[in-house]
Formats: sequence, C-alpha cells, structure tokens
Amino acid sequence: MSLANKVKAHFTAAFSEPPAYIVRAPGRVNLIGEHTDYNDGFVFPLAIDRATFIALRPRDDNRVLAISLDMDDRRAFALDDLQPPAEVGWIDYLIGVAWVLQERGYALRGWDGVVSGDVPIGSGLSSSAALELAAARAFYCVSGFDWDAKAMALACQSAENEWLGVNCGIMDQMISAAGLQDRALLIDCRSLETESAPLPAGSAVVILDTGTRRGLVDSGYNERREQCETAARHFGLPALRDIDSETFAERAPELDALSRKRARHVIHENERSLRAHDAMNAGDAVALGKLMMESHISLRDDFEVSSSALDAIVDCAQADESCYGARMTGAGFGGCAVALVETDNAKDFVERVSQCYIEATGIQPSLYVTRASSGAETVWP
Ligand code: GLA
Repeated sequence: MSLANKVKAHFTAAFSEPPAYIVRAPGRVNLIGEHTDYNDGFVFPLAIDRATFIALRPRDDNRVLAISLDMDDRRAFALDDLQPPAEVGWIDYLIGVAWVLQERGYALRGWDGVVSGDVPIGSGLSSSAALELAAARAFYCVSGFDWDAKAMALACQSAENEWLGVNCGIMDQMISAAGLQDRALLIDCRSLETESAPLPAGSAVVILDTGTRRGLVDSGYNERREQCETAARHFGLPALRDIDSETFAERAPELDALSRKRARHVIHENERSLRAHDAMNAGDAVALGKLMMESHISLRDDFEVSSSALDAIVDCAQADESCYGARMTGAGFGGCAVALVETDNAKDFVERVSQCYIEATGIQPSLYVTRASSGAETVWP
C-alpha cells in the first residue's frame, strides 16, 4: 500500500471519516555542494522519492491532534500554548513549525492528522526537513495562507535552529520545499534563487546508506561552521562565498593550516557545484561523476567530515565499472553516500557494492536507486 493510502486508511479508522487533505514533503540527497550552504554558497540536491505524509482535517478550535504511525504515538497541543521541548521528540517538529509560522504573522487553524514517512531517520536524508515541510503544508491546507516555497523553507529552518536547537543551513528545507520531479536543483544559498537541471540521460542516482549514524548536534558540524566564519572574517568578507579559488590561492598562506584546509574545501566546492550544473546541462555524466569524486576527497582530507564507513562505501562504488562518481552526502561523520551510475546497470551496482562494503566493514548497508520528486505538495484531493 502506498504511504498516501496508508495515512488515509488510518485516518479514516481513527476519525470515522476520510481526511480532507493528504500532504507530503520529501527527504533529499545532495549531489554536490557540501558544507557550502552556511557559507552562502551553492548546493545541488534533489528531492528524493521518500517522503513524510500527513492525512488531515481542519478543526474548529486551535488544537492540533497528531498520530504518528511510525512512532506509535498520539500527541496534542494548543496553538496558543506552545511549550519549548525539554527533549526533542517527533511532535516538537510540528510545534516548532506552528511556533515559527505564528511568530511570522501567519494565522493558524488547528487540525487532526495522521503522520507517516519512509525517509530513514538519522541517516542524513533530511527526515527532519521532510516532517517540518509536511507540517507547514498541513497548516497551509487548513489555514488558507499563501504558499511560498522559499518563505516556508526559511520558516522551517528557523524552527530547526531556534526551536529544536539544531544549527543547520538552508539546503534541506529549501529542497524539500522546492524540489522538482526528475530534476536536481542548483540553489544559491544567499539569494535562494534556483536553477534546475535534468540528470544526464542514461544515469541514475543511488543512495548508499552505510548503516552508521552520527547526529548533527553532537558532531563537529558547529565547529566547522565556526572555522569557516573565522576564515571569512580573516579575509574581511561576509562569507567564504565571496572569495574565488584564484584569490584564495594568493592569500591562503595568511591562514593557519587548519583554517586553510577548511576554507579550501568550501571555496573549491562552490566552484565544483557550478561546474556540476554545467555538466548536467551538457548531459555529461562523466564530468559530473569526476566532480563528485573530487568533492569526496576534499570532504575527507580538507574538511575532515567523512568516516571510515563512508570512505569504504565510496571506494567500493568508485571501483565499480558502472559508476561515474560517488561521494559522501549531507553533514557527514556517518550516514549516506551518493553515487551516479549507469541506469542499465544500477541493479547490479547495488548488489556488487553491498557485497564489497560488507566484506570491507562487516556492516550491512542499504542501497537504493532513487528518483527526483516534487517538493512539498498536497496530493489529495
Ligand atoms: C546538513 C545540514 C545542511 C548542510 C549539510 C552539509 O544536512 O542540515 O544545512 O549544511 O549538512 O552540506
């Protein structure tokens, strides 16, 4: 049964009538442009075919009653009495979105809903952004305000930063809000302007989940952000986005060795993302794959956010004859890698790379071929 039908059936059973709406918001995988979003740079993700769904109906009062099928839990809150989380649970994502939307002047109505998703939690595919954008879309359906993908992405990012205490950039919320079917989206994280491009003909995107997990909060994520900000300040610039690789090569000796490595990654990664967009538009899978490989090496050696599991799965993927390129994706330190492979050989690639990774690490990975899907939307009626 599809997830839409699943939440619909459970809603009907729980509330004795069919839902008024079903909404969905996807997770994401980033093809290239890693740790660039909080440097005002470029990212190039796609919304994946895994998403969070909510079946819902409006309420006459200002309460939200939500049932999570995945957590086997039922929670309620009042829109005029939002309590900050002591320990973050799934309902706090809904509360955080309600909080930020009201802070920004949106008049919200309450709803009853059933939530379920298939973005694996904590694997680096942005299950949090999917839940936040699905919640925003649910409020939009019952409250009748205008839907603006950028505004919703920014609001959900604030919910994550200020309500949930996670210091993420804008990439995850932006692609979950604005993704396009069968296209990847180059996002300028300063202006939030986007340009889409189709995957090169005959190539497919495979997600390689190492089966290892590391949360953003307790990782070196915040430390990397600070190192980047310090490097930008040193150059007297608002962000590392504002320096090109040539100027950087001249001025790099001014920085200490660690800041130099961090900055070098970000500055070159921005340029790789733009080149990746050109490669995509030219339908050049080989060029795109090469840029992905370079990105991985830079994340591993200069930015130091890879892990032995990520390196092992990327090595297995790179070594496969049907692979154009592979790299870790998302924040790093565990979670997923992404590969660009020949569509016709994608199934064999999945088999071979799983085997190779198990032999190297003894860990069972999950690999799946994904497709680019639309961003947050109402799927029913
Ligand atoms: C996480 C964050 C994003 C981005 C990536 C790294 O996914 O949520 O904002 O910074 O890490 O590219």
